[in-house]
Amino acid sequence: MRLFLIIVLSVCQANAASLEVNSTGSLDENGVCKCAIILPDTTFPVERMEFLEMANYNLSLNVQQAVSKIQSYQVTLVESLQKLKNLTRRVEVMELGGISYTELDFELLKLEIREMESLAIQLRASFNGSSALVETLFVEIQNISIMVNQLESHDKNNVLAVKREIASLRKRLEDCEKHQDNPAVPSVPYGTCKHGGIQNISKPFVVQLNYLGFAYKFGGWGKDSMLEADQDIHWVAPLTTDGRSMNSIRFYPSYDDLLLYKKPTDKVLTKPIAYNNIDYSSSGQGGGVIMFNESMYYNCYNTRDLCKFNTKTNAVERKTFTDATFNNRFSYASTQWQDIDLAADEDGLWVIYSTEQNAGNIIISKLNSTSMIVEKTWTTSQYKLGVTNSFMVCGILYATRTLNTRREEIFYMYDTKTGTEGKLSIPFDKMMENIQSLSYNPNDHKLYMYNDGYLVTYDLNYKPLSKTIR
Ligand SMILES: *[C@@H]1O[C@H](CO)[C@@H](O)[C@H](O)[C@H]1NC(C)=O
Ligand SMILES: *[C@@H]1O[C@H](CO)[C@@H](O)[C@H](O)[C@H]1NC(C)=O
Ligand SMILES: *[C@@H]1O[C@H](CO)[C@@H](O)[C@H](O)[C@H]1NC(C)=O
Ligand SMILES: *[C@@H]1O[C@H](CO)[C@@H](O)[C@H](O)[C@H]1NC(C)=O
Ligand SMILES: *[C@@H]1O[C@H](CO)[C@@H](O)[C@H](O)[C@H]1NC(C)=O
Ligand SMILES: *[C@@H]1O[C@H](CO)[C@@H](O)[C@H](O)[C@H]1NC(C)=O
Ligand SMILES: *[C@@H]1O[C@H](CO)[C@@H](O)[C@H](O)[C@H]1NC(C)=O
Ligand SMILES: *[C@@H]1O[C@H](CO)[C@@H](O)[C@H](O)[C@H]1NC(C)=O
Repeated sequence: MRLFLIIVLSVCQANAASLEVNSTGSLDENGVCKCAIILPDTTFPVERMEFLEMANYNLSLNVQQAVSKIQSYQVTLVESLQKLKNLTRRVEVMELGGISYTELDFELLKLEIREMESLAIQLRASFNGSSALVETLFVEIQNISIMVNQLESHDKNNVLAVKREIASLRKRLEDCEKHQDNPAVPSVPYGTCKHGGIQNISKPFVVQLNYLGFAYKFGGWGKDSMLEADQDIHWVAPLTTDGRSMNSIRFYPSYDDLLLYKKPTDKVLTKPIAYNNIDYSSSGQGGGVIMFNESMYYNCYNTRDLCKFNTKTNAVERKTFTDATFNNRFSYASTQWQDIDLAADEDGLWVIYSTEQNAGNIIISKLNSTSMIVEKTWTTSQYKLGVTNSFMVCGILYATRTLNTRREEIFYMYDTKTGTEGKLSIPFDKMMENIQSLSYNPNDHKLYMYNDGYLVTYDLNYKPLSKTIR
């Protein structure tokens, strides 16, 4: 759902172009200044929820039908009623505002309610209106579902955030009208490094649960991280549930399609071979995958090789990554099989890994994306297993560590331009405990996180460059 806010200003003076907000002002024949602002797509789309419910309903219907053949309806009913009481209590607590709740609680609640809903519908069909108990149950579940949705639309962080954003834009427009000669606040244009490094990180924005569901806790996702690449296509790559192999990658043609789970294209990396065997040689290993210039780069399954999968031609190239350790020798603290992590930033493609020679400490290599040849390598003194995950911004490696189940911190950096490392503390919230992948996209200054099955983004805020340099 996109919001278009068009505000026509009554007064207009000549230099509206200095307006820094991403808006273009123009004068028409009557000397009226028109400004159009396109707000980012951060509202919670109701359609997506509805579609999700529908898809989930279909899915759980099938599963539940199988399950119910084994279980007796009576037992299921008793269990359902217990769960329902539990859910009712939790919703009531939330409604009273007794405890602070997070978006995630909503997501979990909704998942549970949807499960209940499909169960109830199925029960209802099998009793064919003959059981008053089932009818009541059905109504109660629907009531809860409505309550949760209402709560959500009232209190969702994102709704508040968008409102705040609109208010701030309005204010800036008014300011622009009043003091047109005031210089606008400088921000950092995408693709440039005109800033003094990361200042802080936004709240997490949960985009959705990965399309395979809750059980798929490992993986990666994002857009093409090459500067100026097509930013419509979104990719999602859940790994097998053991967190090891990436056998296929799903692509959506747009953000809206991702949200609605619509128009997916799956690229399968495995190949069937003789005697019902499967060839995993082009599969990936771990969640270190990244998309760059229409190719997926990742650690090939069960080797120290780098794979490059061309999404246009489906061709796979590979290159042995000499000395890099693999197969869980030095992965990350909270996720396995990610010994070799790919990253991209304003400067291009990077590999973050480790070697025996460097005693398991992080090594950063700049990669030529065409030839997959290492252009330059830097060794750090940060132990790779002491890090949750890491990413590159403007040639600087940033590494995070866990503070607790809900907080994470960027605590370490290595600047490849100067060859210096440093400690820092930039804490940020997380939805779920474990981070399975974290990548930066220079096209939108966002971090893309795969967080226990949820697809999450963060906005990075940068420190200004010191005034003397500007
Ligand atoms: C402003 O918006 C346009 C169109 O969405 C986009 O191409 C451009 O990169 C944006 N510029 C900035 C500074 O955000
Ligand atoms: C759910 O099932 C119905 C009927 O079987 C079908 O028309 C509908 O398209 C399905 N919806 C989804 C999202 O799969
Ligand atoms: C009810 O919720 C509590 C936590 O709030 C949980 O420990 C308990 O197992 C739940 N009972 C049922 C029947 O789901
Ligand atoms: C359900 O009940 C209706 C009438 O109330 C009847 O026509 C229909 O055949 C019944 N369906 C099943 C599956 O028993
Ligand atoms: C469901 O909600 C309706 C109105 O919102 C109410 O009249 C009804 O009593 C509720 N039913 C149950 C079982 O809670
Ligand atoms: C992107 O790929 C195209 C060919 O597909 C190539 O011509 C171009 O040089 C690549 N760009 C970068 C920055 O690697
Ligand atoms: C990357 O490799 C290609 C092919 O070997 C070469 O043509 C290109 O100049 C290299 N790019 C850089 C920046 O070295
Ligand atoms: C984050 O940094 C921006 C400036 O880049 C500042 O406006 C904002 O208040 C900061 N937020 C927090 C929570 O420190």
